[in-house]
Amino acid sequence: MKVLGIIGGGKLGRAIARAALTSGWTVLVHDLAPVPELFSLVDGNESAKLVDGPELAQHSDVILLAVPFEASAELDWSLFTDRIVLDAMNQWSTIGETEHAPAISTTTSVQARNPQMRLVKSLNHFSYHDYRDDKRALDVAAHRAMAVISDDIEAAAVVAGLVRDIGYAPVIAGMDCAHLLDPKGPVFGADVDEPGMRVLLGATRNH
Ligand SMILES: NC(=O)c1ccc[n+]([C@@H]2O[C@H](COP(=O)([O-])OP(=O)(O)OC[C@H]3O[C@@H](n4cnc5c(N)ncnc54)[C@H](OP(=O)(O)O)[C@@H]3O)[C@@H](O)[C@H]2O)c1
Repeated sequence: MKVLGIIGGGKLGRAIARAALTSGWTVLVHDLAPVPELFSLVDGNESAKLVDGPELAQHSDVILLAVPFEASAELDWSLFTDRIVLDAMNQWSTIGETEHAPAISTTTSVQARNPQMRLVKSLNHFSYHDYRDDKRALDVAAHRAMAVISDDIEAAAVVAGLVRDIGYAPVIAGMDCAHLLDPKGPVFGADVDEPGMRVLLGATRNH
């Protein structure tokens, strides 16, 4: 059984937690000040637990970063060495007035916080509302595509499994595509199937 560790039990963290639990994942959540909605999510659920950061990092197959980008500076990044870290954060303050996504993603600055992380970018380009529907009830062929961005092929495959489990069709591409997922990038909010996503990413490799 796979374990998803979620740092940040806010709107996105709780939506992904519910989707993952429905798909058979065990979920660990770390939040500085859990709100009642988070307690009610874990209460009475044997597959969900509130934990501290070190316990989450030690026991999770995938560590989802679901805190505000600015707050992420306070995380203990040393916990993530050699771990699969799924960055779902968006840095809204850098959008400014620019029409297009900058050529360098904020994901680059996330990787710099611990170069030994096995970093994957995904889940950031849809709203938490999208994750609340049970996508698995839909026809697989109609699934929306989700970008899974990493230079670590094994880490990307593990995250692609999570993405598939919560009802999306994963499309894997290299880290040089990360900026395309940022707000104002072409992937952000795009409702496309797998071929459509490959076009948006210009993806040269798909596993
Ligand atoms: N909401 C969306 O639809 C959506 C979609 C895609 C991506 N995202 C991205 O996902 C991230 C979270 O968004 P959100 O809408 O879920 O925000 P949110 O509702 O404000 O939730 C963020 C949670 O993180 C907690 N937190 C802050 N610093 C923390 C720390 N150091 N350790 C542990 N927990 C901490 C916050 O606790 P406190 O409230 O106590 O500070 C809060 O519970 C953002 O980077 C956002 O850009 C959001």
